Amino acid sequence: MKVFSVLTICCTIVAASPLGNWAALSGNDALELRLIKLGPQEYSIISELEKVSLRRRGKKFMDVTNQISIEEAYTLGLVSRPQTSLWKQMLFSASGAKQIEMMNKPVKEYKYPKKLSYKSLVQDLNDQIDKDSIYENLSQFTSFYTRYYKSKSGAESSDWLYEKVNHLTKPISKDYEVNITRVHHKGWDQTSLIVSIPGNVTDKVVVGAHQDSIHLLLPQLRAPGADDDGSGTVTTLEALRLVVQAISTGQFSPYNTLEFHYYSAEEGGLLGSADVFARYYDSGAVVLSMLQQDMTGYSTGSKNQGIEEHLGLITDYTNVGLNGFLKLVIDTYNDIPYHETECGYACSDHASALENGYPSAFIIESEFKFSNQFIHSSMDTIEKIDFDHVAEHVKLTVGYAIELSGTNILNKSN
Ligand code: BES
Ligand code: ZN
Repeated sequence: MKVFSVLTICCTIVAASPLGNWAALSGNDALELRLIKLGPQEYSIISELEKVSLRRRGKKFMDVTNQISIEEAYTLGLVSRPQTSLWKQMLFSASGAKQIEMMNKPVKEYKYPKKLSYKSLVQDLNDQIDKDSIYENLSQFTSFYTRYYKSKSGAESSDWLYEKVNHLTKPISKDYEVNITRVHHKGWDQTSLIVSIPGNVTDKVVVGAHQDSIHLLLPQLRAPGADDDGSGTVTTLEALRLVVQAISTGQFSPYNTLEFHYYSAEEGGLLGSADVFARYYDSGAVVLSMLQQDMTGYSTGSKNQGIEEHLGLITDYTNVGLNGFLKLVIDTYNDIPYHETECGYACSDHASALENGYPSAFIIESEFKFSNQFIHSSMDTIEKIDFDHVAEHVKLTVGYAIELSGTNILNKSN
């Protein structure tokens, strides 16, 4: 009881500090219990405060409290109920086994194209990548004190993003019913954003990035998040600009519905994307593919080691078929090669798609070991970003978006 109240006072004092426009991690918030998933079958119940400390120790996890309540987790035997006798635990596990089976959603397999169909269009668009505008967007996006999902400036940065995508899609908003949805989440104010460009069919091709940032020492501190994941955000904004241009000039019209997602609260344990893809699953949405762009701007790590500039193609917890298609896209549209690399369980929002049975992929700035070491601190700043490298991620994203949204991969007749 005493420990609790001391902790509550401490947290409230920190929360009230002038360092930032702070709304969250007040005492009660910090002690709130959350259900986290640390691996395909590994769950644990910890407090919000312990989540941050776990992250500092490099543990990767999804916070699934919004999908499975703590009470359900006990009933399903995902975690053992405190002070429960062994026979009761066994009983819970037995009754939960069937439901756990249902919770593991098998990932759909699709036959992605073995040949590309839009070479001259994609190359033409990629020649028009505007690095100045990417820089300008990142400069504005990193000027928010932090984009921490529970902070006031984190909510304001999502307003900025909303205005931005509205502006970018203006050229096609008369002829196309572009749907821009702000997804409100339970428990924090930063919204996720879904930009949906309808195709002939409602099956979706998704590009994703996360909009939030975090300072892992204290979420109240300055977190520009230039690379993580301001870079992925501005990469996909530029790809959106180019795709919109192709549509508005009559050079392209998507067959599948093409969506650009900007997730909130990735740093809280993939909270925003888990919410988005769980809603898609519940409504029976078909997602043909999801490509995550998270950390696209740092090339110094590999260059310092005398390693060629490259893209990092994540091979663990991603879809083999989709990765094969992306290798073809990179070989065709990029000026640098890919290196295969691993990143661990649930290291970014592609994992939320996969958890809901949707094939996903993740391409990062380099092999994991050469990636940006300054993330999650106030040193993740814009001057460390290589905009030529970001442009390589734009090429890849435009290639992926045009080729997959422009192709009837299920061979459905219109
Ligand atoms: N952008 C990182 C993931 C990352 C970091 C990938 C370094 C490759 C190299 C992401 O924002 C992140 O911090 N993820 C967490 C897990 C998440 C579920 C909280 C991580 O990797 O620790
Ligand atoms: Zn991060």
